[in-house]
Amino acid sequence: MKTLAENVIAVGVQHWDRRLFDELIPLPDGTSYNAYLIKGSQKTALLDTADPAKTEVLVDHLMRTGAEKIDYIISHHTEQDHSGSIPDMLLVYPDAKVVTNPKCKAMLMDHLHIDEDAFIEVQDGQTLSLGDKTLRFIYTPWVHWPETMSTWLVEDRILFSCDFFGSHQATAGLFVEDTARTLEAAKRYYGEIMMPFRSSIRGNLKKLEGLDIRMIAPSHGPVYDHPEVIVNAYREWVDEDKVANVVVVPYVSMHGSTQKMVDYFVDGLIDRGIGVQPFNLPVADVGQMVIALVDAATVVLAAPTVLLGAHPSALYCAALVNALRPKTKFAGIIGSYGWGSKMVEQLTALMGNLKAEMLEPVLAKGLARAETYSRLDTLADNILAKHRKLGIV
Ligand code: FEO
Repeated sequence: MKTLAENVIAVGVQHWDRRLFDELIPLPDGTSYNAYLIKGSQKTALLDTADPAKTEVLVDHLMRTGAEKIDYIISHHTEQDHSGSIPDMLLVYPDAKVVTNPKCKAMLMDHLHIDEDAFIEVQDGQTLSLGDKTLRFIYTPWVHWPETMSTWLVEDRILFSCDFFGSHQATAGLFVEDTARTLEAAKRYYGEIMMPFRSSIRGNLKKLEGLDIRMIAPSHGPVYDHPEVIVNAYREWVDEDKVANVVVVPYVSMHGSTQKMVDYFVDGLIDRGIGVQPFNLPVADVGQMVIALVDAATVVLAAPTVLLGAHPSALYCAALVNALRPKTKFAGIIGSYGWGSKMVEQLTALMGNLKAEMLEPVLAKGLARAETYSRLDTLADNILAKHRKLGIV
């Protein structure tokens, strides 16, 4: 088994071929359910477990460490990809106590029907001694559930951060080997679940500032032995003022009219020195679009109408953007309609959570004419002026 430090053993599971999480999030690189066994001189703790689909593998890994007794199962987060094997762990290790905060305890009782007697509650900042190793619990809520906490292993200066700083990747190595790949996966994961809670994430980052962290061991993806890489990336992602000179253009087209407008608009943005990331919604990897949304200054959604409303792919996109609440400063709508359209009102209402200035929409009846292309030029000019004002061009 792989070790992070003496008697700190990685016992988690790689799920190489998982391709979807929450029946929603694409997993191009699989994922892992990281769990860690810490053997102190007096007590042994297991930090998190695994998705129930991989309980047997986790048990096998624990057997290979020779762990005959586990005193504490530390549960950082109720979601079942980390907690789902706890009921089986309690059968294998019946004397173990589940250590967590009161909120997580209540949620574990709701979601997994774990008996109340099985728990030890801990407060923010409380410590638990394993003998020669000390665990300190740090509440790091809203990454993406309200109850999540981290554990600081004092003597080895390792932060076990659960979903926080994690990345959906299955990897052969324990530590980050390809930094660019891991940062992209971590940005995808941040965008998909944490972005709406970035003010809480800012608070959590502040809370960790006093720690001299040697390693960050999240519950998904490889361990960071250069933790400043991911901490600095997070600082940028949660900074409301750090937006990029990029326009994200999610679009859908049925008969090519909207496509022609998108092509013209994308070329116009490029000609003006603005970065652009178009995503053809029916075939796009939504995760790639989310990565772009983490720091793009502007989003322009492009769609045709189906009957009077926006194409359902555009409705889905607007609802997703609304839920993820990126720090986007400007938003626009372009597209083509057949005989009438309620598209602008509909999409604008769906994106009500977005704290973005809405730009003048550009709609064409049928195939765009010169007047429509001229209005797309005006829209691109307007975006350039606004990006200049932000100082990002
Ligand atoms: Fe990896 Fe929120 O569970």
